[in-house]
Amino acid sequence: MKILGIETSCDETALAVVEARGQDFFVRKNLVYSQIPIHEKFGGVVPEVAARAHVEKLPILLEELGNKNGKGIDAIAAVNGPGLVTSLRVGVELGKALAFLWDKPLVDVNHIEAHIIANWLTKKNIKLIKFPSLALVVSGGHTELILMKKKGEYKKIGQTLDDAAGEAFDKVAKIFNLGYPGGPIISEWAKRGNPQAIDFPRPLVNKPNFDFSFSGLKTAVLYEAKKNSTKLNNKKYIADVCASFQEAAVDTLVAKTIRAAEKHNVKSIMLAGGVSANEWLRKEMKIAVKKYLPKVNVIVPELKYTGDNAAMVALTGALKAREKKFTKFEKIGVDPNLSLG
Ligand code: KG4
Ligand code: ZN
Repeated sequence: MKILGIETSCDETALAVVEARGQDFFVRKNLVYSQIPIHEKFGGVVPEVAARAHVEKLPILLEELGNKNGKGIDAIAAVNGPGLVTSLRVGVELGKALAFLWDKPLVDVNHIEAHIIANWLTKKNIKLIKFPSLALVVSGGHTELILMKKKGEYKKIGQTLDDAAGEAFDKVAKIFNLGYPGGPIISEWAKRGNPQAIDFPRPLVNKPNFDFSFSGLKTAVLYEAKKNSTKLNNKKYIADVCASFQEAAVDTLVAKTIRAAEKHNVKSIMLAGGVSANEWLRKEMKIAVKKYLPKVNVIVPELKYTGDNAAMVALTGALKAREKKFTKFEKIGVDPNLSLG
């Protein structure tokens, strides 16, 4: 089965073709047009600008895909939420147009589910994913702990009460004018800093639930910067703030994940979403799991599948298409607040 995936939920315009053969999945095409250069000057994603850029770039990517009549494609999968409403609309409408023209089924895909399924795109991961499994979904818009008792069954057991983890990285980068998106930039600066230099708060870390909060941490960084306005050109100081902030954010993510994994007796932990590219998070999670839950496998997506991409959408669509989970394409709408589990 060959599926065309469409991803336009935020600021990446992406198309991919994935072939699913039994337990083997092959990414045949994976095209991503990143809108970062467009949004960089605004210091964040401007929804209307993002939607217009999707409209402009999708035909170019379709051309690059080189499959004008849908030959060999069995179904189309498009993300219909969560995300920016007009951006989602662009992708879903393209999906409908192609479904009509090529006479193929259209599958609606949840963006968060697709981030989790991205872990299956790498062959060596598949044998390590054991159920029950716990996914830590960390992106620019979401921070959630999703429990999977079995494949395809999702239960949200924790989430952020305010900012998402990626959003906190982006906002901290903005405070110091370091650029956009903040995650990769902060993690680079952090490599030259001391994570123990500043003792930032770890909000909710001692609460017994599995919820997160990042806005207090971001505000603490803002106060720190205001208090030390004379040091804002001091590279060592900025590196120390970045390292200490990253340490606080990662500590919280790891502590809550470990506690949830213990309580639900999971056999594997998966990272998912843009922030799962963070080296410090990957390292600290592996260290903590080895120490506290040595029998649990830690699975991370390949770097190219951590951020928004259409391969994860196509694969999620393929899994749904296998179960013949089709809705008439005319009935597929978008839901910016679509949740998982
Ligand atoms: O999953 P994603 O590409 O888009 C959404 O669904 O939101 O996640 C984007 C987020 C941004 O906030 C970005 O700063 C963050 O992921 N990010 C990182 C890293 N790479 C991307 N955060 C921390 N460390 C990174 N290396
Ligand atoms: Zn995403």
